[in-house]
Amino acid sequence: MFTKQTLLAFVSALALGAAKTITEQNPTQAEIDAARATVLPYSPVSNVKGLAFDRFVDIWLENQDYDVVAADKNMANLAKEGILLTNYFAVTHPSEPNYCASAAGDNFGMDNDDFHQIPANVSTIADLFDTKHIAWGEYQEDMPHAGYQGFRYPLSGPNQYVRKHNPLVLFDSVTNDAVRPRQIKNFTSFYDDLEHHRLPQHMFITPNMTNDAHDSNITVAGEWSAKFLSPLLQNEYFSKDTLVLLTFDEVDTYPKPNRVYSILLGGAVPEHLKGTTDDTFYTHYSIIASLSANWGLPSLGRWDCGANLLKQVADKTGYINWEVDTTNAYLNETYPGPLSDSDYSEYSSKWAVPATEGKCSAGHGIAEIVKKTYHGLEPTYDYDSPVPYDSASGINLGIKYHRKQVSSPHVPLSNPRMSWREYQTNNQPEARKRGAWYYPVNIESLFRIYCHHYSLWDG
Ligand SMILES: *[C@@H]1O[C@H](CO)[C@@H](O)[C@H](O)[C@H]1NC(C)=O
Ligand SMILES: *[C@@H]1O[C@H](CO)[C@@H](O)[C@H](O)[C@H]1NC(C)=O
Ligand SMILES: *[C@@H]1O[C@H](CO)[C@@H](O)[C@H](O)[C@H]1NC(C)=O
Ligand SMILES: *[C@@H]1O[C@H](CO)[C@@H](O)[C@H](O)[C@H]1NC(C)=O
Ligand SMILES: *[C@@H]1O[C@H](CO)[C@@H](O)[C@H](O)[C@H]1NC(C)=O
Repeated sequence: MFTKQTLLAFVSALALGAAKTITEQNPTQAEIDAARATVLPYSPVSNVKGLAFDRFVDIWLENQDYDVVAADKNMANLAKEGILLTNYFAVTHPSEPNYCASAAGDNFGMDNDDFHQIPANVSTIADLFDTKHIAWGEYQEDMPHAGYQGFRYPLSGPNQYVRKHNPLVLFDSVTNDAVRPRQIKNFTSFYDDLEHHRLPQHMFITPNMTNDAHDSNITVAGEWSAKFLSPLLQNEYFSKDTLVLLTFDEVDTYPKPNRVYSILLGGAVPEHLKGTTDDTFYTHYSIIASLSANWGLPSLGRWDCGANLLKQVADKTGYINWEVDTTNAYLNETYPGPLSDSDYSEYSSKWAVPATEGKCSAGHGIAEIVKKTYHGLEPTYDYDSPVPYDSASGINLGIKYHRKQVSSPHVPLSNPRMSWREYQTNNQPEARKRGAWYYPVNIESLFRIYCHHYSLWDG
């Protein structure tokens, strides 16, 4: 094994020739060819046990309304193999801010598909995974080489790879690093990693602009999904204890609620739940929160903090999800921010400040790096909310939410009189061993009353 230092030195030497060019928006074909020859894809592996799954595969398709997807034969067949999430919302329009949200827990007012390089003081899921050395990667179809940062590929003609559909490449905290860009790879690397049993525990998969329905339609994306997933779901190495999410970045019709057709698949879906539906309210932020809860990771302190957890994970931790009244939920615009072109949101020079205190739905507090960077600053919003909102600009107001009843049959309470907090404490032996501190039960009740009050006041 390499030590981290030798590995870094090795990598920097390799990357030197390409470093100047790969940060450019529009590299020449010659520069791309040179980088392809020098930048080696990197495929770390890890084996950190999760509560509900040991691997998470996030696959995003593009721009389809819920009912259009539901009518597709291949998608409907896939839903029969897994759990259909009937209340999963994208968070805004157009594409790129949704991809950004999936990695950072916010989209900073982005209302466009521009070339963005998000400042290094914004943390992402990569920082969360690194706290427990959980190997992660991205697989972007038709990206010309690992760590490519250009706007698109090929440089002209029909789009295949586009940067706007690549979540982690948008962040300086990822691209400034010597190693991280090399974990952003193409499908050639996916099949190499699959064959050599070195797939990461978290991966984000983006098919090309035809396969993901962006430049085609749901028939093409449904066929691609069936063709791509069928052999993988049969593959013991890929599928064992793996949860696959097949979803869409956003719906196509902007004035409609941004509810996207989403399916959970893979070996981590219990047999008796195959072909069922789950109507819990989720957003793209719920996935970050669920990853954190599953592997005992901290929160980014942004909209992932209050987001509902996937039921599989919530059932394991005893967390009670919010019941969200979606009557007025559109989630089709965002609030002001520095990445706005003033198309669907307002420009503001202020970068949102995350929360630096609190447990969050995942239950493991806020990441140290976030606390260190934003220490002593007031959070911009109440990130305990399960719905991103902004009172000042009137975004997503009027959405009411309350805690589901503790007596929900989905919560496997062995002793029905045990409080939720007692349940959670009793079920986190690992955290107890580390000497984690829990709110006493009465403070917990006060906290829940406060949240309830806050949601009414804010909504
Ligand atoms: C995928 O990436 C690898 C490694 O960076 C590169 O050698 C290969 O040419 C790329 N494949 C495609 C289809 O672009
Ligand atoms: C997209 O990927 C498929 C294979 O998965 C390939 O046949 C096609 O040429 C690619 N690009 C475009 C623009 O269709
Ligand atoms: C998608 O496009 C193909 C070919 O252009 C066509 O045959 C098919 O009916 C279309 N599907 C939908 C849902 O419009
Ligand atoms: C969001 O939906 C509302 C309600 O249909 C609509 O008035 C508004 O224009 C939509 N926003 C965008 C960006 O289309
Ligand atoms: C984070 O970076 C942005 C852009 O450089 C800057 O405006 C902001 O003040 C920084 N925030 C903190 C807390 O350093």
